[in-house]
Amino acid sequence: MPGSHSNAFPANPGPLWSRRMPDSRLAHLPDSPFARLNMLLGAEKPGKEPISLSIGDPSGPVPAFVTDALAREAARFGNYPQIAGTEDWRQAAAAWVARRFALPPERIDPERHVLPLNGTRDGLFSVLFPFMPTTKGGARPIVAMPNPFYQVYAAAALASGAEPLYVPALAGNGFLPDYAALPASVLARLVAVYVCSPSNPEGAVADADYWNSLFALAEAHDFIVLADECYADIWYDAPPLCALTARFAQSNGFSRLLTFHSLSKRSGLPGLRSGMVAGCAHLIARFKAFRNVAGPQVPTPILAASAACWRDESHVAANRAAYQEKMAAAQSILDDRMRRPGGGFFVWLRVGNGEDTALRLWRQEGVRVLPGAYMGRETEPGKSQSNPGFSYVRIALVSDLSTILTALERVRNFVGP
Ligand SMILES: Cc1ncc(COP(=O)(O)O)c(C=O)c1O
Repeated sequence: MPGSHSNAFPANPGPLWSRRMPDSRLAHLPDSPFARLNMLLGAEKPGKEPISLSIGDPSGPVPAFVTDALAREAARFGNYPQIAGTEDWRQAAAAWVARRFALPPERIDPERHVLPLNGTRDGLFSVLFPFMPTTKGGARPIVAMPNPFYQVYAAAALASGAEPLYVPALAGNGFLPDYAALPASVLARLVAVYVCSPSNPEGAVADADYWNSLFALAEAHDFIVLADECYADIWYDAPPLCALTARFAQSNGFSRLLTFHSLSKRSGLPGLRSGMVAGCAHLIARFKAFRNVAGPQVPTPILAASAACWRDESHVAANRAAYQEKMAAAQSILDDRMRRPGGGFFVWLRVGNGEDTALRLWRQEGVRVLPGAYMGRETEPGKSQSNPGFSYVRIALVSDLSTILTALERVRNFVGP
């Protein structure tokens, strides 16, 4: 009826920011895990001198070659940067991709296979937009992701109009989502899947079989694979086999694959906000065209510092050795209470009720850890235990060694034998 209002929308709903918008695409996006942790611990007093192991903030030293490059190029803050970065950055990035993933250097074209990002989160979010159809398989497109997961995947799926599908990453499947087990009706609607390897939070690493069957599935059902490999250079026993290596071995190319890499972890420089996307030249071309309209360029001085980081392996080896020392210390303290991750810098500790543990650990021991459930989603509505992160806390080994030792000893005393 002309002039009437639907019941769902009151005639005078107030300003946009004052209402929860049930019709918003983002209505089902929870606050960030860290905002939720702040709410949980709120006014609670820490039982001891507080130590935070909740955020994966590397907080290490900034190499001199980084500050030198920034200073050298500082005048370029006076110019708009290019979305594709500088020639120097592209050369450095492409050379790293070939070196790290054991690919023939002539098969990684600096002009076609790499693109700079303002940190991987920027790319992981914006990548879905240029590839999202209005429907697939006759219905709303689906983007699948592991559960638990790095929260930007869900934000990207929802914002781009897709239905996010949270696929459990459980101990029984090596903490990696089993996309091949999805029903045919879901596979038909899949546009993209996110894979995180080494995974945050569990530190699980995909092997050749995992990658090969995922790529075969992507071919069969016409979807793209978004491999978040920002922890690829932080590993414990052996360097993880990464998606580009597996895809190239399988198909002599990179079709359907984009991989995401970060200097936040490799170089311990999250404040630089610098990463890259590498992979299929067709996907990169389309993503670049979209970013040229809507993406934030990476500032030229940051690109200069980033190129230096992609070229240098010694600071990365030192960084990794420090994490290896911290993980070894964690194992000696937590012993068989913890599972040794393949990569990344988190301990994914099974504790019973993760949220309750995080609260009591803070109250009694002053140690701040992240409830695993805050990185996951319930798979049965209203049943918090169906969240695959429910029984876990995530502990980030990012402080200095002695702080970590103190914190983990408190954790062990709290958790008990
Ligand atoms: C799994 C995962 N992906 C991506 C990111 C984002 O990293 P960046 O700093 O490169 O945006 C993080 C950061 O914690 C992460 O844990």
